[in-house]
Amino acid sequence: MVRSRPASRWTLLLSLLVLIGCIVVPGRTVKHENFKTCAQSGFCRRNRAYADNASEKGDSWASPYELDPATVHFKDGQLTGILIKTTAANEKLRLPLTVSFLESGAARLIVDEEKRLKGEIELRHDSKVNKKRYDDTGKWVLNGGLEVSKSATLNAETETGFTKVLYGPGDAYQAVIRHSPFHVDFQRDGQTHVQLNDRGLLNMEHWRPKVEKEGEDPPEEEDTWWEETFGGNTDSKPRGPESIALDVTFPGYNHVFGIPEHADSMSLKQTRGGEGNHENPYRMYNSDVFEYELSSPMTLYGSIPFMQAHRKNSTVGVFWLNAAETWVDIVKSTTSANPLSLGTKSKTNTQTHWFSEAGRLDLFILLGPSPKEISKTYGELTGYTQLPQHFAIAYHQCRWNYVTDEDVKEVDAKFDKYQIPYDVIWLDLEYTDDRKYFTWDPMTFPNPKGMEEQLDDHERKLVVLIDPHIKNSDNYFVSQELNSKGLAIKNKDGDAYDGWCWPGSSHWVDCFNPAVYPWWSSLHKYDRFKGSLPNVFIWNDMSEPSVFNGPETTMPKDNVHYGDWEHRDVHNLNGLTLINATYQALLERNKGDMRRPFILTRSYFAGAQRGSATWTGDNQATWEHLGVSLPMVLNNGIAGFPFIGADVGGFFHNPEKDLLTRWYQAGIWYPFFRAHAHIDTRRREPYLIPEPHRSIISQAIRLRYQLLPAWYTAFHEASVNGTPIVQPQYYVHPEDEAGFAIDDQLYLGNTGILAKPVVHEDVDVAHIYLADDEKYYDYFDYTVYQGAGKTHTVPAPIEKMPVLIQGGHIIPRRDRPRRSSGLMRWDPYTLVITLNKNGEAEGSLYVDDGETFDYERGAYIHRRFQFRDGALSSEDIGTKGPKTAEYLKTMKDVKLGRVVIIDPPAAWATQSTVDVSADGQTVGTAPLEFHDQQGGKASYAVVKNPGVGIGMAWHLGFPKI
Ligand code: NOJ
Repeated sequence: MVRSRPASRWTLLLSLLVLIGCIVVPGRTVKHENFKTCAQSGFCRRNRAYADNASEKGDSWASPYELDPATVHFKDGQLTGILIKTTAANEKLRLPLTVSFLESGAARLIVDEEKRLKGEIELRHDSKVNKKRYDDTGKWVLNGGLEVSKSATLNAETETGFTKVLYGPGDAYQAVIRHSPFHVDFQRDGQTHVQLNDRGLLNMEHWRPKVEKEGEDPPEEEDTWWEETFGGNTDSKPRGPESIALDVTFPGYNHVFGIPEHADSMSLKQTRGGEGNHENPYRMYNSDVFEYELSSPMTLYGSIPFMQAHRKNSTVGVFWLNAAETWVDIVKSTTSANPLSLGTKSKTNTQTHWFSEAGRLDLFILLGPSPKEISKTYGELTGYTQLPQHFAIAYHQCRWNYVTDEDVKEVDAKFDKYQIPYDVIWLDLEYTDDRKYFTWDPMTFPNPKGMEEQLDDHERKLVVLIDPHIKNSDNYFVSQELNSKGLAIKNKDGDAYDGWCWPGSSHWVDCFNPAVYPWWSSLHKYDRFKGSLPNVFIWNDMSEPSVFNGPETTMPKDNVHYGDWEHRDVHNLNGLTLINATYQALLERNKGDMRRPFILTRSYFAGAQRGSATWTGDNQATWEHLGVSLPMVLNNGIAGFPFIGADVGGFFHNPEKDLLTRWYQAGIWYPFFRAHAHIDTRRREPYLIPEPHRSIISQAIRLRYQLLPAWYTAFHEASVNGTPIVQPQYYVHPEDEAGFAIDDQLYLGNTGILAKPVVHEDVDVAHIYLADDEKYYDYFDYTVYQGAGKTHTVPAPIEKMPVLIQGGHIIPRRDRPRRSSGLMRWDPYTLVITLNKNGEAEGSLYVDDGETFDYERGAYIHRRFQFRDGALSSEDIGTKGPKTAEYLKTMKDVKLGRVVIIDPPAAWATQSTVDVSADGQTVGTAPLEFHDQQGGKASYAVVKNPGVGIGMAWHLGFPKI
């Protein structure tokens, strides 16, 4: 018999540790075995081997691709020709090449495979899939900017073996195409900035028939050509190997950014091993990665194959338009300074190597030269961020789940009770009847309209989750219609694909099919999605698509979409097509009353910015996850999709109160500001948090609300020129090398507001790097920081956010606290002014109704404010349209309420008024209060109620000095 012994001290201690371990759940990490490494992905391994072989051969390696000079034609800004690939067996394969030189300044290079274009290939397994390489990515992604340049010309100075094309503004750009081996240099002002196939890694795996060799195992290179097995799933590959790869080198560039989504630093790391580097390339294959890890090149939920390279005063970009699984290797090589020749510096080249599993080669090269110009050109191609409804840029309260309609109403009332503003409450999965979207659980949500009406009383909105997997059930009208109309994604045998997701057995709506659009729209109509009112908006989750029992938690690659395209060809577009369908549905829901749709998507691709917001998915309540949210948000902005945030508080686990508070203080700087939490976490709505943290969180949320005019103006700028809503250091100071990799401080639009959220435990200072020698002022108490190229220590106890304003700006804000942003519509504005070294400042304000598309017909206010020669003036920078006058009328009582000038000229201390004129007429004076400086804090002056309308032209004359 075994008798229990009394517990020893050690056992007790151990039990205690285990208990503590259960309470403070540390960040867990991803199941690596569920996702491929490069070595486990056939085409990734083959292309890396190709690169290794080329580098081992060194100078004796020659790329087997040449441009046949006899085929080269140049006409109307477009060069065409045939690339010849010589195979190991000395076969010559024809690959049609087109290089288009675009008005936008971008160049586009396309390479396809002639045999595939002509359909002269045979498919295995009697497959009926499309024989072409997928060439429709552009149809989903590109939005404009494709006009071919009329001024692009062949350079008359010819050189044998080369074709050279001059293009771009003032012919400042040149593409130098070497025929053999094929190689292209893109030059700006005579300097090479981007090189294609410089390392000779261009590789188009051409179609070939499978040759059965009895009894022989295929050589290692070929073992994944015809079939590939991972995690128990076998990919049947009816077209065999078909990857496409190219090296892109940025000579003299030390930093590359973009290609989200990765939980990593903003400046991308090297990927071929070595200290501090990754072992695997950055992967882009939209996936539902459970408990994702940090500092990793692993793929996540969305992908945008757009990269910027930056060096002092020069930015260039490449956009790899391919929606199949893609990997990017990055290597930096440094050429050392020549000790014998004075003045030569060491130079770093960043060498990138891109490979996609399928599709054609379709690549855009953008020559900048500034990051903002790159954003503009990229936006011309793929579209700019949609100007969202105003509520969407305010605070969103979410959790999985608010469990009843009464629960929602109570949360809503509690926010009011504790005077914390919020605009949107969210319903996750569980509001549905048995996970059937477009239905409500009759037990828990018996009165959805009553709930929505209560929200509407304070201009609040509801967002509900609609996923693309449809429960496979005979008693579900959506499932019946999906099947009867044949709108589901098919398996390789042509039947509706059946997989496992939240509802159990499910089918997936195929949004590549145009017939889906009217049907999907019909489902969102108020009379079909019963219980939904106009203040209901949509969250499209799990759209990678996530399939719990699928390979790498997604769909088999040999599934088939509309047009007979394999899922392999279009995987990364899947989320984007769902957004398109939902966008259309929301527009049609409101016929005659057109309001801007709001959609949150988890999966995305280039172009998603035109109609949705996104977030960084299922993060964890750890300081490290809080930290990585900043580079992730910044990199998405760099890649043209700036409307992004991270789950405030962390999705998994329970944040302790300091972490939660710091997360709110960081979250107010995310363009998309939403708190969210997993179903197993404790409730953590801000009003539940004990004091003093509750008040500190409320203050942070109120700061977001106070600055909404500046945020909306930044969104407007993103919507017309692609400028990221929050900008990294190198966007604002492209000349300052020390700032290029900084990814933990950010600027709000062009306001000069510089925030450095605290992302570490137990710290009470922040170290803010200032690039220039303007004065920077603490946002709250006007403490002055100055000194270029230095890091400044700013106090940051838990109750204080490190936020500075650069000298030279005029920032619009609204100071009256309200329950929701909709209720601030008629409130007066405050302008906060910091003067630069010349005593001048500038800023802007964009305002519209925040809901409709009337701004497209001139219903908006757009003002430039300038402080110069002792006067503050407001000038109209909008263009008028048929709706301008009517809109201005509605805004006529919205006034400028206050002007705060930080660090004004000392001579103002003796004056008590400013002269006010409006529309060229003197209207009187307004009181000026001067507050002396104290300690290291600057003085400030306040003008009260100048009485001028925010939409008018006006002028405030300050005392002359
Ligand atoms: C996964 C999403 O990432 C998460 O935010 C959501 O709460 C769950 N799906 C449940 O719908």
